[in-house]
Amino acid sequence: MNIRRSIFCIPMFIALVNSAVIVNEGDVDQQGLYSKSDRVDILTNRNFERKIYGQKHALLVQFYNSYCGHCRSFAPRFKAMATEVTTWKNIIRLGVLDCSVEENNEICRQFEVMAYPSLRYLHEFYVKGNGNIGEKVHIADSPEKLKSNLITKMQSEQVSGRLITAPSLHIDSYSSYSAVFKSLPHDINYAFLVLENVNSTIGSELALDMNDYQHIRVVRVSETSELSNIANIKQFPAVIALSSTLEPILMYPKEPTKQSFLKAINSFLKSRNYVFPVRDQGSQEIITNENSDEYPATLNTDLVYYSDLEKTLKTSLHTEITRFKSLTGEPLQALLDYLDVLITSFPSRGNVKEYLMDLYTTLKTRKTWSGSEIYELVNNLETEHAPVYTTNNLEYIRCKGSQTKFRGYTCGLWTLFHTLTVNAAQKLDTTDGPKVLKAMHGYVKNFFGCTDCAMHFQAMAARNRIFDVKENDKAVLWLWIAHNEVNLRLAGDVTEDPVHPKIQFPSVSRCPECRLARGAWNLPAVYQYLQNVYGADNIQMMRRTITSAAASPFSNLDIGMLSLLYM
Ligand SMILES: Cc1cc2nc3c(=O)[nH]c(=O)nc-3n(C[C@H](O)[C@H](O)[C@H](O)COP(=O)(O)OP(=O)(O)OC[C@H]3O[C@@H](n4cnc5c(N)ncnc54)[C@H](O)[C@@H]3O)c2cc1C
Ligand SMILES: *[C@@H]1O[C@H](CO)[C@@H](O)[C@H](O)[C@H]1NC(C)=O
Repeated sequence: MNIRRSIFCIPMFIALVNSAVIVNEGDVDQQGLYSKSDRVDILTNRNFERKIYGQKHALLVQFYNSYCGHCRSFAPRFKAMATEVTTWKNIIRLGVLDCSVEENNEICRQFEVMAYPSLRYLHEFYVKGNGNIGEKVHIADSPEKLKSNLITKMQSEQVSGRLITAPSLHIDSYSSYSAVFKSLPHDINYAFLVLENVNSTIGSELALDMNDYQHIRVVRVSETSELSNIANIKQFPAVIALSSTLEPILMYPKEPTKQSFLKAINSFLKSRNYVFPVRDQGSQEIITNENSDEYPATLNTDLVYYSDLEKTLKTSLHTEITRFKSLTGEPLQALLDYLDVLITSFPSRGNVKEYLMDLYTTLKTRKTWSGSEIYELVNNLETEHAPVYTTNNLEYIRCKGSQTKFRGYTCGLWTLFHTLTVNAAQKLDTTDGPKVLKAMHGYVKNFFGCTDCAMHFQAMAARNRIFDVKENDKAVLWLWIAHNEVNLRLAGDVTEDPVHPKIQFPSVSRCPECRLARGAWNLPAVYQYLQNVYGADNIQMMRRTITSAAASPFSNLDIGMLSLLYM
């Protein structure tokens, strides 16, 4: 009997498993800054179309870059909002897409995402098509303000005839209680009248929060209505429970907030033995401290690895420069300038140089390129000149964070440009150093996916007169000073990796001779230290076995020489 049953069960079981796989095709549990437990839809290029187009509900999509500091500090706020609006899921859902993931790039290009993070509102039954890239929603600093921006957007959607299955977010003037009930369906037992200012979002938020309450409605009533006089209300917002038999009961929430209003309404309903909707509590997964066990706490060094430089270069060429819908004029020139300094000063091994030169000369042949054409070109040339990079799975070594949300690409970009200024300076008969600064300025301005970083950097460049730098060694020091200025600003910031605190570089312990009395810098020593770290001869081939000796970038001989020079 048992055996027969289990045999019978097998094909059904397989069928179930198969269909589950098909339904969730392309879904991932974790990507970039978000994971399954965050109550947002993690969008990827494999599930995007299925989750975005033709849906009954609207969507608020956040396009972000996992390495942008602003995106990292925004993530907790977005998650906080997502938790608060999970019950709105039949009306609107929140989605996130990481534009720093190469395979998602095409979508970010299609949606013309140029700033990170960007919020776009996509109405229900959205269709794929040219120019359908959603509508901008303002980013706000607090989850509350974010939510009120979203509600304002949803209100205007209803005015234009959309979101019709959602509760009404519209505010009206009423002259009597019966006028309110006349506007409602017959099966409503209680209406909660929220008397408020047109600009208040409390009523709308309550309506959305209670969207799945059966036989209940939230009705927004303008504070200037005749009804306010009838109810003798002097302070707004106020809330009145109105039964279908038109008996009004004025309620007294403790505070003029949504939470307080909702609490009052819920206790009122409870006292009336109301049956609340059953809600899915969601999975409360325990978030483990990722890769903390494999993270080598002893690897705390200034050493630069080829792997860091190559991974940064590859990311920049694969995902950053390909982001434009169309590239022409100043941005295209900025790209050429960037490639130019890479060709002259990147400490390349293998075929990187030939590859970059080919890319440069091909790009030069035309005045306009689309992002997808550049992406194709980059990939084709990479295959043609293979192997361009040392390994297929490049990893950050110097720039590895103690958790995936820290360090990475932005650290790589600093490392890359320091390396370029230092190596440009080693050629005595050229002024490639200032050219690197100019190229960096153009790159950051036009391509760096961290929007707030780019803005800060441009302001600093203007202040510190980046274009007035005329000598190679000044270029090296200019960038060192600029980076220290950023370190100072970001010290203690949420984006700071606790294992790699933002210090004034180099640290006292790494370079005692870099500092003079009373904290003044010894510039020749700093200059020498930068040569020792970023000079082509000192770039590390591969991961060293981690011993305490690896903590110093100098061999014993170097240290001896340094003390001779700077005693
Ligand atoms: C152009 C630019 C602008 C940025 N602006 C912002 C911003 O406005 N807001 C924001 O949140 N983040 C910004 N970032 C990111 C931020 O600076 C860090 O890259 C990020 O926080 C990761 O820090 P990190 O610990 O890896 O060290 P990073 O600051 O990325 O430094 C990488 C490595 O360089 C070395 N180093 C440090 N200081 C110096 C120096 N003065 N000279 C030479 N080498 C040094 C150290 O070994 C360090 O580990 C910006 C990044 C770039 C490239
Ligand atoms: C609502 O907000 C708008 C825009 O901020 C403002 O102009 C208007 O006066 C406000 N209305 C009321 C009634 O407060």
